[in-house]
Amino acid sequence: MGNSFCLFFLIVLGPYLSVLVEATSLSIIGGNNSLSSFPRNFLFGTGSSSYQFEGAYLTDGKGLSNWDLFSHKPGNIADGSNGDIAVDHYHLYLKDVELMEYIGINTYRFSISWARILPKGRFGDVNIAGIRHYDKLINALIGKGIQPFVSLNHYDIPQELEDRYGGWLSPQIKKDFAYYASICFKHYGDRVKYWVTFNEPNVVAIRGYRSGIYPPARCSTSFGNCSSGDSEREPFIAAHNMILCHSAAVKLYRAKYQDKQKGNIGIAINAVWYEPFSNSTEDKLAAQRAQSFYMNWFLDPIIFGKYPEEMKSILGSLLPEFGYNHLKNGLDFIGINHYTSFYAKDCLQSTCVQGPGISKTEGYYLRTPVKNDILIGESTSVDWLYVYPQGIEKMVTYLKKRYNNTPMFITENGFGMMNQPDSSISCFLNDNKRVDYMKSYLDALMSAIRKGADVRGYIAWSLLDNFEWLSGYTIRFGLYHVDFTTLKRTPKLSAEWYKRFILNFTSFEAVT
Ligand SMILES: *[C@@H]1O[C@H](CO)[C@@H](O)[C@H](O)[C@H]1NC(C)=O
Ligand SMILES: *[C@@H]1O[C@H](CO)[C@@H](O)[C@H](O)[C@H]1NC(C)=O
Ligand SMILES: *[C@@H]1O[C@H](CO)[C@@H](O)[C@H](O)[C@H]1NC(C)=O
Ligand SMILES: *[C@@H]1O[C@H](CO)[C@@H](O)[C@H](O)[C@H]1NC(C)=O
Repeated sequence: MGNSFCLFFLIVLGPYLSVLVEATSLSIIGGNNSLSSFPRNFLFGTGSSSYQFEGAYLTDGKGLSNWDLFSHKPGNIADGSNGDIAVDHYHLYLKDVELMEYIGINTYRFSISWARILPKGRFGDVNIAGIRHYDKLINALIGKGIQPFVSLNHYDIPQELEDRYGGWLSPQIKKDFAYYASICFKHYGDRVKYWVTFNEPNVVAIRGYRSGIYPPARCSTSFGNCSSGDSEREPFIAAHNMILCHSAAVKLYRAKYQDKQKGNIGIAINAVWYEPFSNSTEDKLAAQRAQSFYMNWFLDPIIFGKYPEEMKSILGSLLPEFGYNHLKNGLDFIGINHYTSFYAKDCLQSTCVQGPGISKTEGYYLRTPVKNDILIGESTSVDWLYVYPQGIEKMVTYLKKRYNNTPMFITENGFGMMNQPDSSISCFLNDNKRVDYMKSYLDALMSAIRKGADVRGYIAWSLLDNFEWLSGYTIRFGLYHVDFTTLKRTPKLSAEWYKRFILNFTSFEAVT
C-alpha cells in the first residue's frame, strides 16, 4: 500500500515537488541496505605488509629479517620462492599510490620493516635511507588524501634479535621494540594518525612456537617437525613478551607523542568466528574457549589487564603473570583481521577425534568446518577460507559486547584464489567470487554498525597479489593482478567494483 501511494504521489505531484522527489530518492539510497550505514569519515582502504610487498631485501642498508632467513631455507615455502623481490613495492610505491588513488581509497595500511630502520636492532645505527623511504611513501599518500595506517610489526623482525637473545622468547625484546617504536613515532607521528603495534601476534605465537611452521620454527615433536622448542610453554612466553612490548609502545606514545600528534594506537588481531557445534552448553562454552585461547589471550590483558579465566583455569602456571602495574585500557582501537569461520566442538567433557584445537594448550575444542556433512560456508580454493559473511557481523558484535564498544577497524578482510595448473590471467581478472565475498561481508558489517557497533574503517586485503607466506606466490589476494615475472599490475573486476562502491559512499556523504 505504501508503494502505490508513493507512486500516485509522485506521478500526480512529482513535477511540482522536485525537492521532495530528490529527498525520496535519497532515502532510497539511504535505506538499510545502503552505504548510509557507514558513519561519516569512515575509512575505506587496502592493506599490505613489508615482507609481502617490498622486496629490496638488501637495498639501501636494510638488515636481514627472520623471514629473509626462513624463506631462504629450502622446503619452507610451497613454491620454493621468497620475498627478495616480492612485488617490488619498495621501488614501485609511487605507481602503487596511483593505483590506490584510482580505486579512491582514503587509507592505506602498510607495515614498516624493522630491519630497514634498525638493521641490528638497538645494537647498531639507525638506517637513514630506511627512514627516508617511509617518509617518501607517507608523503606520497598524504599528497593524494590517503591516510597512512601503519603497523610497526607485521611478522618480520631483525634477525639480529633472534640471534642475540631468541627474539620473542626473551624479555629483552621489550627494550628493542620500545626503541624502534619511539623512532617511528618521532619521525612519522606528525603525519601518521593510525598506529598498529602488532599484526596478528596470535598467529606469530602459534605458528612460530606451537606448530613451528613460521620462524623461528620452534615446536615439540608431537606438534610438528622442529629441531627444538616447547609447544606447550613457549607460545605463552612469546605472547607475554609481545603484550609487554605493545604496552611499552602505547605507554611511550601516550606519554610523549599522543597529545601533540593526536593519533590513535591499537593492535590487529587475527579473529576467527566460531559457531558452537550444537546448542549444548558444552559446545557453547567450547566456542567461548576458542575465542579466549586464540584472541582474548591478547585483548584481555591489553584491555582488562589480565588473561581470560578459561585460560587461567586450564593452563595454570603455564601462563606467565603480569606485574601489579600492568597497563589496562592499553589501546585506542581494536584491529580485526577476519576472513573465515569454523565450528567449535567441546573436547573437555566429550571425547574428540584427532584434529586442530583439541590439545590442552589450544583449549580443548575441535575446530571443524563441517557439521552433518554440510560446510559452514562455501569452500574456496584456499583450504582454510569458508565464505560465511554472518561471521563478520557476529565477530564485531561479540567484540563490541566484551570490550564495551571500543572503536574497531576491520584491518583485513579478503578473498584468496589459488593458482591452478590451468589458470589463465583472465580467470584471475574476472574475480566475481571476490566481488561476491566483499559485497556480502561489507553488507554483514553494515548490519553490525547499524546495530551500534563502533566500526570506523574497512581495509581490504590486499591492494596487490603478493608473497603469501608459506604459500609463496601460489595464492592471490589482490584487487590488482600482478604478473610475478614482469611485475605488471592490472586491475581486477574487484578493483573496479570497490572503486564504484566507495564512489557511491562518497557521493552519498557529499549530499547529506
Ligand atoms: C532499518 O533497520 C532498523 C534496525 O535494524 C529497523 O528498525 C528499521 O525499520 C529499518 N528501516 C528500513 C527502512 O528498513
Ligand atoms: C622434517 O625436517 C627435516 C629437516 O628440515 C626434513 O628433512 C624432513 O623431511 C622433515 N620431515 C617431515 C615429516 O616433514
Ligand atoms: C539452536 O537453537 C536455535 C533456537 O532455538 C535454533 O534455531 C537452532 O537451529 C539450534 N541449533 C542447533 C545446531 O541445534
Ligand atoms: C552504487 O549505487 C547504485 C545506486 O544505488 C547501485 O545500483 C550500485 O549497485 C552501487 N554500486 C556498488 C558497487 O555498490
